[in-house]
Amino acid sequence: MTKNPNIITIDGPSGVGKGTLAKNLSDELDWIVLDSGSLYRMIGYLSLKNDTKDFSKISQKIDKEEISFKFLKNNSNISLFLGQDNLTEFIRNEEVAKLASEFAVMPKVRDFLFKIQRSFIEKGKGLVADGRDMGTVLFPEAKYKFFLTASAEERARRRENQLKESGLSVNIRILQERIEERDKKDSSRVISPLVPAEDAIVIDSSNIGINELKEMVLKLIRS
Ligand code: DC
Repeated sequence: MTKNPNIITIDGPSGVGKGTLAKNLSDELDWIVLDSGSLYRMIGYLSLKNDTKDFSKISQKIDKEEISFKFLKNNSNISLFLGQDNLTEFIRNEEVAKLASEFAVMPKVRDFLFKIQRSFIEKGKGLVADGRDMGTVLFPEAKYKFFLTASAEERARRRENQLKESGLSVNIRILQERIEERDKKDSSRVISPLVPAEDAIVIDSSNIGINELKEMVLKLIRS
């Protein structure tokens, strides 16, 4: 397979710093970002909003609009737009995350999102794609594939900090248990399981700072 030097894939479980790394690389290279988790969350959100689990009804709504990702000022995360609507604040909650993971195991949902995700190749001079199956299923031709890991303990600690920043208090032990449970489910599912691509570089981000991680990846890409 001819490798595409204009695609970087970053896969891994939640809380390993995929989103931040994708944003930093996109800033540095002036490439566009595909945050695939947001697309599964968007489906969860539309299911909730329209009070339906009928995927054909949800997909019709998505088909009518353009999907785009933007980096807005005052927000460190990437924002997801469906047409003119910024869905970001509606998709970042546990209720939507739970629905997203229910839809994510359905082959028809993955097929539908496959086409949308592939279309991102045409949208910029380069693409940084972050998710669970970017290097294995979506962009097997990507020249640069990374798989981030971090201990469940460290990921629970990061999540705890995020929640504290939003004024919420949580039990770190419960957070860690939930993370371990989700990892097991994601890695053992039949379609698009969370596994590194054979040609991915695996990086444990437990003890690496955000900038150090970006520099490390850029060095690997440029070498
Ligand atoms: O990364 P996240 O928490 O925003 O992902 C939301 C859900 O979507 C989560 O259940 C995993 C799933 N997902 C997936 O199955 N494949 C992807 N490429 C990205 C996310």
